[in-house]
Amino acid sequence: MIYDILAGYYDDLVRDDEATKQWVDWIESYNPKKDFLELACGTGEITLQLAKNHQVSALDLADHMVEAAKAKDIDHQVDFQTGDMRDLSKFGEFDAIGCFCDSFNYLLEEEEVRAFFKEVKAHLREDGLFFFDSHALARIDEFALDHAYSEAGTFEDGTNVQWEIASTPEGLIYQDFAFYLPDQTIAEHHIQRVYDPEWLIQVLKEDFEILSLTTDWEIEGADEGEKYFFVCKKK
Ligand SMILES: C[S@@+](CC[C@H](N)C(=O)[O-])C[C@H]1O[C@@H](n2cnc3c(N)ncnc32)[C@H](O)[C@@H]1O
Repeated sequence: MIYDILAGYYDDLVRDDEATKQWVDWIESYNPKKDFLELACGTGEITLQLAKNHQVSALDLADHMVEAAKAKDIDHQVDFQTGDMRDLSKFGEFDAIGCFCDSFNYLLEEEEVRAFFKEVKAHLREDGLFFFDSHALARIDEFALDHAYSEAGTFEDGTNVQWEIASTPEGLIYQDFAFYLPDQTIAEHHIQRVYDPEWLIQVLKEDFEILSLTTDWEIEGADEGEKYFFVCKKK
């Protein structure tokens, strides 16, 4: 299961308080109302900031990520649950739903994306807002095999890690982690998919009005960069 081991080291690898603030400022600038559902909440860094102004429910597929998030929520402000963002049947309706920081791209099939957007819409109230980000097309070239990203390091507990990112021309991004534990090496193989923003726009427009599309926060529209940021309103 992906994130079984990575969950324990996730914050060490990627936690960035400045970036979390940027995410939260972006979300709050659209004044979402009270009830907020965060999909694929990971270790809850954005979740707990949103909980300062919202009644937040949050889910993630990986038990260990949810446990890590819950451990930070000492005041039990958030309803954290383990669950699949493709099936929101156990949730009610919300004023806003968000899926942040490379989580949407774990949906690998176009049909899954279509169904996911419809599921999100079904759990939004009138005029509800939907926030998400998606890998930019330029990521495919950035991680193409001849210049794949590679990093190695050692965590505080002495565990060594190797992390490689590579892409295929079809738009799959492979993230491979190797954790060198004292008695064994554990590998995690993550696959994400890059979607053409024009296709995303076309599919989104069936159910949402797109209020904003920017690249890397500031560039209008889908352009060269790392991520596209979508803000949509339920039709
Ligand atoms: C890159 S992490 C981002 C976590 C978090 N959103 C953040 O901002 O740090 C991606 C997360 O997506 C979760 N995930 C992937 N597929 C999922 C699915 N189908 N349903 C719910 N969570 C999923 C993973 O378990 C992981 O925690």
